[in-house]
Amino acid sequence: MDRIRIRGGRQLKGEIRISGSKNASLPLMVAALLTDRKLTLRNVPRLADISTMLQLLQQHGVTVDAAPGENGHAHGTTLTLQAGKITSTTAPYDIVRKMRASVLVLGPLLAREGQARVSLPGGCAIGARPVDLHIAGLKAMGAEIDIDGGYMVARAPKGLKGARYTFPKVSVGATENLMMAAALAKGTTVLDNAAREPEIADLAECLIAMGVPVAGAGTETLTIEGVSALKDATHSVISDRIETGTYAMAVAMTAGDVELIGGRLDLIESAVQTLRSAGVTLEQTERGLRVHRTNGALHGVDVMTEPFPGFPTDLQAQMMALMTRAEGASMITETVFESRFMHVPELSRMGANVTIHHESALVRGVPKLRGAEVMATDLRASVSLAIAALAAEGDTTLHRVYHLDRGYERLEEKLSACGADIERLKG
Ligand code: UD1
Repeated sequence: MDRIRIRGGRQLKGEIRISGSKNASLPLMVAALLTDRKLTLRNVPRLADISTMLQLLQQHGVTVDAAPGENGHAHGTTLTLQAGKITSTTAPYDIVRKMRASVLVLGPLLAREGQARVSLPGGCAIGARPVDLHIAGLKAMGAEIDIDGGYMVARAPKGLKGARYTFPKVSVGATENLMMAAALAKGTTVLDNAAREPEIADLAECLIAMGVPVAGAGTETLTIEGVSALKDATHSVISDRIETGTYAMAVAMTAGDVELIGGRLDLIESAVQTLRSAGVTLEQTERGLRVHRTNGALHGVDVMTEPFPGFPTDLQAQMMALMTRAEGASMITETVFESRFMHVPELSRMGANVTIHHESALVRGVPKLRGAEVMATDLRASVSLAIAALAAEGDTTLHRVYHLDRGYERLEEKLSACGADIERLKG
């Protein structure tokens, strides 16, 4: 298994190109299941999760044509997906267990084929992560769903019907699943208390390009008009706001100065406010955004994760890593997922002072961190350890980097181009 070695103490300086969003790409790729027409997606990142999704879609009968984006590596991959015929309506355990987003195929397969059998998901080891909202929403649209042998077995022999459904809790994945199912349902679907994440707006934009009327993206009420046939479409994936926030925190950690090309401040406003309060400067530039902390110390700030537009749970671990070196204390409260503090024992191995009280972690800044052997436990936890390592004395070896490869494209290349002492150790 690959490891990553980082020697801390170098300031990050230069520029980093932000990739297309992983969390936007996954549902956009699944949207190809809705139609026998072509869907072309530009700016798709090269990541393990994208390969897993391609594998899943291919076994449902989707043909895939992949080409490098403009400027070779710089703009990800252009994928052309076409589900001429659905060859299987089963999403097997072996693929779904690798990635929770696989559950997104449930709505589109059911809407198009009148049946689907999807394994209950696995994915990151953060909390229980149920799928009850996906199931309840599809039932409101007329589906019958049973759990049998670890699978969700869904049927809608006469097709799905448009419905009004209010989510009891905000869920990004369930909102996406229902939006796609609604695209082929008979009549209008109204989703209340829907997720407002930018990835939802990106999916709405793509569905509109495919010929599905969707209104209200970015608000808590989405209205989707079902259609009987879709059309060929091309869509460019938005930039990855979580990657943007992650590199902003890495730059802040090293008191560096980096331009994040393609990064968008408007997609991470709450994180920007938090970072500014902590003493980091962020400004929009023509090509993206500039992050620097060239003078002054970091200050401890309190953070609470919330659905968009609140502070993203996917930046919580990285923010905690940054706060381990701040002056003063920081209270970090996780409200979206339970058990999302698995990075804490690893950060402590590097000398961080963090105490957990239920869903909050109290981080007291320390004057220095020391390199150590640490283990990645999930995607965002693993990158938080890399951020800590960039400012630690000596070498850190990060084990189980396959977690990192699920969501960060060429991390070591992007960081070393800005002066970090980082290398991947193969095998
Ligand atoms: C997506 C993101 C993930 C991010 C998360 C929250 C993708 C591929 N992944 O995950 O990176 O951390 O949004 O921003 O886009 N819940 C239920 N029942 C359900 C579904 C969810 O109780 O049926 C709960 C979850 O356990 C969690 C909360 O709702 O506590 C939010 O989860 P959700 O928004 O669904 O996350 P994902 O879509 O899985």
